[in-house]
Amino acid sequence: MKGILLAGGAGTRLYPITIPVSKQIIPVYDKPMIYYPLSTLIASGINEILIITTPHDLALFQSLLSDGSQWGCSISYAIQSEPKGIAEAFLIAESFIASDNVVLILGDNIFYFPSLEFVVANSIKNKGASIFAYHVSNPSRYGVVEISSANKILSIEEKPLEPKSNYAIPGFYFFDNNVVEYAKQLTPSRRGELEITDIISKYYELDLLNVIKMDKGTAWLDTGTVSSLMEAGQFVQVLEKRQGLKVGCVEEQAFIKKYINRDQLRQLAKAFNNNYGKYLISLLND
Ligand code: TTP
Repeated sequence: MKGILLAGGAGTRLYPITIPVSKQIIPVYDKPMIYYPLSTLIASGINEILIITTPHDLALFQSLLSDGSQWGCSISYAIQSEPKGIAEAFLIAESFIASDNVVLILGDNIFYFPSLEFVVANSIKNKGASIFAYHVSNPSRYGVVEISSANKILSIEEKPLEPKSNYAIPGFYFFDNNVVEYAKQLTPSRRGELEITDIISKYYELDLLNVIKMDKGTAWLDTGTVSSLMEAGQFVQVLEKRQGLKVGCVEEQAFIKKYINRDQLRQLAKAFNNNYGKYLISLLND
């Protein structure tokens, strides 16, 4: 399974913050936003990752994340010249995906998902697509999935004015290799984008869509508006202060997955003369 991290977009809702810089570079408490989805991919057992970004921001991501070998990963880059929709990722990534299955995560989605490894190992199907469903109070801003008590999907709608359920679809999706073919068949929506909801609906029509409800111990936050960005930062701060554990720590997830060993983690820690470095050292003693 390969991973695509989509970190392009215009970020207009965060203007003027995102006039000169990608949304996914700005901090969420103590790390750049992209660390969170990146660590989620690594925690899912994915270490072959393509980052899709804008021509303008590419160099920034390269200077931040390099080729990923410092974390035992392979990180490569591709460009989306204009924000023509989330589903365009599969067209841009066609040669990267090759004959594999693929996970797509959005660069502004933050997950606190303690049981992620277990869920990925047990609930993701090899054939078809798997999406998550997360209970929110304001589903109209998202793709919404209606689920029966027997966990059967009843409908999928993009940003409905009158949502049929409170279950939003987070920006973290698992697809089999057919996703590239389905993306090629898409036409732009009224807002001129290739919509991820249309891909998900295709799998639904084929009866190949699997939905996994995220349980109550998990959190999904998006960071698209100034309020949600602030709230995400506060959430991470409260959790980290209370538990003494980090959310979205790429080095920690790479260490847990054994992509790096103790010496490599110690080397990485040396680059940080601060609490982040101390935290990495503390992982060696756990
Ligand atoms: P959005 O929040 O839908 O769009 P945006 O980031 O451009 O922000 P705004 O609406 O404020 O202008 O995007 C969700 C995520 O998907 C975000 O991480 C950016 C990414 N994205 C792309 O990389 N390319 C795209 O074409 C789109 C639509 C989104």
